[in-house]
Amino acid sequence: LLNAALSDEWARMTALIAECLGLHFPPERRNDLERGIREAAPELGYEDAAACVAGLLAAPPGNAQIRVLASHLTIGETYFFRDRPVMEALAETVLPELIRARRGGEQRLRIWSAACCSGEEAYSVAILLHRLLPDLRDWQVTITATDINPRFLQKAAAGTYGEWSFRGAPAWLKQQYFERTGDGRYTIVPEIRKMASFTCLNLAKDAYPSLATDTNAMDVVLCRNVLMYFTPALMREVTGKLHHALVDGGWLAASPSESSAELFAQFTGVNFPGAILFRKDGAVRPAALPPPAWTPRPEPFVPAAMDFPSPMPSVAQAFESAVETEAPVTAQPSLAAAQSLYREGRYAEAADTLRVSAADHPRDGAFFSLLVHALANQGRLADALAWCERWIAADKVNCSGHYLRAVVLLEQGDRVEARMSLQRAIYLDPEFVLAHYALGNLARSSGKPDEADRHFANALLLLHGRPPDEPLPESDGLTARRLAEFIASLTATQGRHDS
Ligand SMILES: C[S@@+](CC[C@H](N)C(=O)[O-])C[C@H]1O[C@@H](n2cnc3c(N)ncnc32)[C@H](O)[C@@H]1O
Repeated sequence: LLNAALSDEWARMTALIAECLGLHFPPERRNDLERGIREAAPELGYEDAAACVAGLLAAPPGNAQIRVLASHLTIGETYFFRDRPVMEALAETVLPELIRARRGGEQRLRIWSAACCSGEEAYSVAILLHRLLPDLRDWQVTITATDINPRFLQKAAAGTYGEWSFRGAPAWLKQQYFERTGDGRYTIVPEIRKMASFTCLNLAKDAYPSLATDTNAMDVVLCRNVLMYFTPALMREVTGKLHHALVDGGWLAASPSESSAELFAQFTGVNFPGAILFRKDGAVRPAALPPPAWTPRPEPFVPAAMDFPSPMPSVAQAFESAVETEAPVTAQPSLAAAQSLYREGRYAEAADTLRVSAADHPRDGAFFSLLVHALANQGRLADALAWCERWIAADKVNCSGHYLRAVVLLEQGDRVEARMSLQRAIYLDPEFVLAHYALGNLARSSGKPDEADRHFANALLLLHGRPPDEPLPESDGLTARRLAEFIASLTATQGRHDS
């Protein structure tokens, strides 16, 4: 009887771990699960594995506990230029083609190493880009690297590795991109280190793609050697969300053992020597949107302060409120239709739906916000910026328009103007927490850690006063609790490295 009860507890624990971390422990890996729980128990405040299982089953783990569990249950096996054929496909075809297509236009590239472990994968891509772009300075390169395990992220941000991380790496790697430490290890050179930014993100639970966490409009996503640990349902959910996170024509790289045609059915599989990569082939879109078919209203003859709008709903809130709120019959169907297209990752169609009904929504924040998100998620920054400006012209004192304008400007590399827009957003709404967070990120990446700390402290202060599980305005579903954790992980992993 005791045995049956125990095995029932472990079965429930297996289900709980699958739900919270996405990790699948089939019966043959039960020992791994038990070992991980045993190791995590003291850190979680339990005497032993049995007490830990009972405690976690009685009260499901919060995010902090999930991270502790992740640091004992995940496998941190990785190395530089792992899986050469994939790296060669990136180096010889995918990245050069992207570079050729962008050169002379909007010179930007966005890469996401999802489940980056200790950073070798993200730095490998950074090194490839460094070699492919002699004019790197004139490019806006974003390498977002995320993992669930904070310990791995700390190692990634420090950028110091032992010999084992270089197995199979080309000989020039250490010579050109690493400095020897006193204890026979190697630290990545600052020029490469600052190209990648590392944050904690749980692929099983967190909201993505999102402008706020820089997980949208990606050209290349590497999600390798992690899907294999997930349940089949989660594998499908994650590949669907990564599909949304890519621009049309963007690429997904999985490991060869994970590259099943069925799982990646929504992509086009492209064969390279020894590797297969998956391309998102969306409908062909026009290069730029025509200007809106309406003219902004003239400035209202009232002082700005009296014309202060009610707080702008987030995209997620807008989805929900669309069903409940009463709105002009002509306007509502197009917004609701666009919201549902957006949820499905059909950003181009969502934008088209909104654009054709622009005249019905001259000052509607939910409408503009969704349109700007839909354009930005396709990487159509010039269009997104133009609509932010139309939104601001129509409604000068709305803080969301200024915030989204800043996010787009940052992506275009215009830090000065972006900073001013963020300050404007905060002037209009001192409690606009994402603007404080973005100012912190901007200061950090500009090598001003003290200023960054001040902005992050302001953001944390505001976050503590908010309901923890409520999505933040303009965040694509990021909650106050998760943003506080993001800020904590940034401070812990990157701290002063970027200065
Ligand atoms: C074997 S490593 C892969 C590292 C690298 N992508 C590679 O292919 O070399 C697997 C990584 O997935 C991470 N991971 C596991 N579950 C995750 C989740 N739910 N969300 C994000 N990362 C996760 C682990 O922490 C670990 O760093």
